[in-house]
Amino acid sequence: MFRLAHLTDPHLPLPPARLRDLLGKRVLGWQSWHRSRRTTHLPAVLAAVQRDLEAHHPDRIAVTGDIGNISLPAEIAAARAWLAGLGPPGQVMVVPGNHDAYVPLGPGGAMPAWAPYVTGDAGEAQPAVRRIGEVALIGVNTGWPMPWWSSQGRVGGDQLAALEDRLAVLGREGLCRIVLIHHPPLAIRGGRGRKGLADAAAFRAVVSRAGAELVIHGHTHRRHLGKIEGVAGATPVIGAPSASAGNDRHGDLGGWNLYEIGRAARGWTIGVTCRTAGAAGAPFTASQFDLAVSP
Ligand SMILES: [Fe+2]
Repeated sequence: MFRLAHLTDPHLPLPPARLRDLLGKRVLGWQSWHRSRRTTHLPAVLAAVQRDLEAHHPDRIAVTGDIGNISLPAEIAAARAWLAGLGPPGQVMVVPGNHDAYVPLGPGGAMPAWAPYVTGDAGEAQPAVRRIGEVALIGVNTGWPMPWWSSQGRVGGDQLAALEDRLAVLGREGLCRIVLIHHPPLAIRGGRGRKGLADAAAFRAVVSRAGAELVIHGHTHRRHLGKIEGVAGATPVIGAPSASAGNDRHGDLGGWNLYEIGRAARGWTIGVTCRTAGAAGAPFTASQFDLAVSP
């Protein structure tokens, strides 16, 4: 049994910013944080989620983006320190979100700062592959700077081609392939149009042809279960709420998901537990269901 914890969209508190830091699109994100988001994304909720997660002793932790808010250098550094507190790079795999990519992810951005958390076994950039026994985690980047008012994501042609190759190889090896992506690859509430994945159809086509056993995402701040119909069977698609949400103004109440993956007679069983933070100090509530996935 392999146990994967899925935590997403923590939106760590925005540090003080100088006026010159807020040129361009960042000013919108800064206003949004101070107008409402800072009263939703609460460090106490995130800390409770982390304690609850640690108490379940997962084998690995997947973080599907939006660690920060407007990609300030101080936020990228704070995110790196937060990741170190969550676990060592070998235990934690990260894909960035649109809020981590207000500026390019490359030099000076999140990717080099978070390198050991976002790269694969061979140190490769995303789509990055980590093999753990019979499971493979595949991290896909959708964070690219977008125009004002857009929180779209994009996988891009090069990454889609590499993803298809890697999924095919891992499928031939008989591994349980779990894809980590920030934006939902389905047109769902909070994740379509100018908030959606621009090349979602191309991503779904790759998963449909090459196969994957599970796709997990963040971005919408809502729990969601969907699927991508594939040549060999359906791939479940699961979204988790923000790990720091102390209210439901911008999505569902905060929490995290636990996936328990085991071999079945044919394919895999994936037990899904959605854990939700209660009011301050209250116990978490949990809902559980099982998925059967054929390769
Ligand atoms: Fe987010």
